[in-house]
Amino acid sequence: MKVTVVGAGAVGASCAEYIAIKNFASEVVLLDIKEGYAEGKAMDLMQTASLNGFDTKITGITNDYSKTANSDVCVITSGIPRKPGMTREELIGINAGIVKAVSSSLIEFSPKTIIIVVSNPMDTMAYLVHKSTSLPKNKIIGMGGALDSARFKYRLAEALQGPISDVDGMVIGGHSDTGMIPLTRLATRNGVPVSEFLSEEKLSEVLEATKVGGATLTKLLGTSAWYAPGAAVSAMVQAIACDTKKVFPCSVLLEGEYGFNDICLGVPVVLGKNGIEEIVKINLNDAEKATMVESAKGVKAVNDLL
Ligand code: NAI
Repeated sequence: MKVTVVGAGAVGASCAEYIAIKNFASEVVLLDIKEGYAEGKAMDLMQTASLNGFDTKITGITNDYSKTANSDVCVITSGIPRKPGMTREELIGINAGIVKAVSSSLIEFSPKTIIIVVSNPMDTMAYLVHKSTSLPKNKIIGMGGALDSARFKYRLAEALQGPISDVDGMVIGGHSDTGMIPLTRLATRNGVPVSEFLSEEKLSEVLEATKVGGATLTKLLGTSAWYAPGAAVSAMVQAIACDTKKVFPCSVLLEGEYGFNDICLGVPVVLGKNGIEEIVKINLNDAEKATMVESAKGVKAVNDLL
């Protein structure tokens, strides 16, 4: 399994690190436009190999896409991150140009690759890759829901004052503060609905904290987060590499599913060796459906800026 990660910045390097540590890929190519930057990150990461016990070979490249040839999975993290007070949508002007050029160069050398889009505004960037390339829809996957769900589980466990491994929950919808939909109704602790343990007020606090999860970190860090985003991408790459058929909420092109068309939006999907193996249909109640419609409107408005 060869994985290319474009953008050797905070998220790209974290993603390469987690992929290597999990030891399922033979090779990770880190590519960046900044001269020497990816080479430096790759060398630093390779010097952790004997300490962390992995054999994955990490190579750093400055903008030479021929070295990415025949990648099974390519991850796009190139672009600018948001600063405190900025929304993800404000990044569109710069990031759309970068994502379009990068995806076209990747496909030139890896025509059969699966692309995972991370750069923000992610749903629109994933849509842009659909519109500007000829990759089939099962091979273009936006990462947002996996991260937002991990943040949701963190907040749920905090409210329950218990271990995160007891908790399950999913966030669907657009990857934005206003668009994401933490499904509190379906969240569980050891299989029991969390509403059995948490008051409505507590659940709505969890919901709000999840929605501003990224913004909270951006305020604390001065830029957007990288550990959890990198871990979320690596978990998705692992599901594809190892064909686990695990379900992750991902931003995928909808053609009638959940009642939407011509939009990339976060819904649960089965990930495996073909990328998106299946879009999973969950039964949303009327309130959740209405929130999903509002979320889609927000994503469409950003798509219209392309
Ligand atoms: P960063 O600034 O640390 O790294 C971005 C890297 O991209 C830089 O090293 C830069 O040199 C490189 N780059 C820029 N243009 C390039 C090009 N044309 N070709 C190759 N490399 C290029 O930013 P960070 O924090 O890693 O974030 C990256 C992106 O990921 C941002 O758009 C951010 O908003 C997004 N993000 C998305 C998340 C999600 O859940 N979908 C979560 C966290 C970040």
